[in-house]
Amino acid sequence: MSRIIRHDATGPALIEIGDKVVAVCQCGLSRNKPFCDGSHRATKDESPGVVYAYDAEQKRVSVDDLFPSPGSKRFAPPGSH
Ligand code: FES
Repeated sequence: MSRIIRHDATGPALIEIGDKVVAVCQCGLSRNKPFCDGSHRATKDESPGVVYAYDAEQKRVSVDDLFPSPGSKRFAPPGSH
């Protein structure tokens, strides 16, 4: 089973706990959740307005490339193949 979850943050939330600051992942890419592991660096050059998907190796693709929308040049209506 899998699912796609949208994350808009490109960095961690910094939470003070006593005299410590804990970085909590908000980008969704950390392999050490709930903590930030620096993986959010992969989001630095994302383009505004584009939704991306990342695989387990943090290889990035545009969601529109995976699931072309009706306005996309890549869209093929059902039954057109
Ligand atoms: S905010 Fe997700 S890895 Fe840093």
